[in-house]
Amino acid sequence: MSILKDKFGRKISYVRLAVTDRCNLRCQYCMPAHGIDIVDRKELLTFKEMYRLTRVLSELGVNKVRLTGGEPFVRKDFVKLLEMLNYNELLDEINITTNGALIANHIEQIEQLKVKSINLSLDSLNRQKFAEITRRDVFDEVYKTLEKLENSKLDLKLNMVVQSGVNTDEIIDFVELTKYKNIAVRFIEEMPFNGTGQKNVIEVWDYNKIFQSIENKYDDIDKLKDKRSSTSRNFKIDQYQGTFGIIPAFTRTICGDCDRIRITSTGLFKNCLFDDGVFNVRDFMREGADDKDLKNLFLSLVHKKPKDGFIAEQERNSDVSESMSTIGG
Ligand code: 5AD
Ligand code: SF4
Repeated sequence: MSILKDKFGRKISYVRLAVTDRCNLRCQYCMPAHGIDIVDRKELLTFKEMYRLTRVLSELGVNKVRLTGGEPFVRKDFVKLLEMLNYNELLDEINITTNGALIANHIEQIEQLKVKSINLSLDSLNRQKFAEITRRDVFDEVYKTLEKLENSKLDLKLNMVVQSGVNTDEIIDFVELTKYKNIAVRFIEEMPFNGTGQKNVIEVWDYNKIFQSIENKYDDIDKLKDKRSSTSRNFKIDQYQGTFGIIPAFTRTICGDCDRIRITSTGLFKNCLFDDGVFNVRDFMREGADDKDLKNLFLSLVHKKPKDGFIAEQERNSDVSESMSTIGG
C-alpha cells in the first residue's frame, strides 16, 4: 500500500482539519475587532466530505487527526462529526483545539470517543486581561472547562500565546499551574497570522526569551525527552505534577521532523502553516473525484511539502497576514 511520504522521507501521519472559519471570540492576535470575512456556509466542507477526506488519508497512513477552527464547537452538531470520525478504525487519535467557551456540556460525551487530548487556549489567568485579549467576557466559562477537563480522562494541554507587553508577566503564574495540576502548559511564540499582517512589538518574545524568563526563576528545570514530531520542547520543574513546553511557532526550529498536513474549512490543502494553500480538495471532490483520484492527489501534493516554514513562506504569492481562524489553528 502506498503511504504519504514527502521528498525528504518524512512520513505524514497527522492531519489538522479546520471544521469552521467562524469563532465566538475575537482574540487580538488572531483577528481584528470586527472579525474576519467569513465564507458562505456552502463553501465549508460538509461532515461527509470531512469524513471522506480523513478516511482516504487514513488509508494512506495518517492515524491522527486534530480538529481545529475557528472554534470547532461553533459548528452546529460538531459532536456528530466526532462520532462519525470515531467509526474510522484506522484512526488512533482524535484531538481537539478549542477556546473552551462552549464545550463544558459536551465533555462526558467526548470522553466516550477516541478523543485523546484537548488543547485549550488560555492566554491569561486574569479575568479582565482575558477579556481584553479575547474581546469577550467568557473567562469564567473557560475556567470551568479547564477544571472539568482536569477531572476528566482526557489529556489537557493549555496553550498560551505569549504576547509582548500583554501577558508576559503571567508566564511564571502559568508554570506554577503545573505544581498541583497534571497538565501540559505550552507557551506559543506569537505569529503574524492576525488578519492584518505583521505588528510592531515592544520586545520580541521568542523561544529563547521565554525560556530565559523561566530559567531565571527556577534552578530545578528538567528537560524532557520529546516525541520526534513534537511541536514543543518540553520541560518539568522537579517535583511538579505537570509539564511546560515552548512552541517555536515563529522561529520554526522544529520543522525538520514535521509529520503534519492541514486542510482548511473550505478544503484548501496545506503542507505547512506558512504556505498559502496548494490545492482545493473540496472542489476536486465536488467535481466527482473518486477515492483513487483523491489518493493520487494527496500522494503528489505531499511530495511538494517544503523543507521548512521559511521555504514555505518564500514560496508564497502573498505576505503572511491571514487569520489563524481561516487557516485552522
Ligand atoms: N500566533 C500564535 N498562535 C496563534 N493562535 C491563533 N493565532 C495565533 C497567532 N497569531 C493559536 C491560538 C490557539 C490556536 C487555535 O492557535 O492560541 O491555541
Ligand atoms: Fe477564536 Fe482561536 Fe482566533 Fe481566539 S485564536 S479568535 S479563540 S480562532
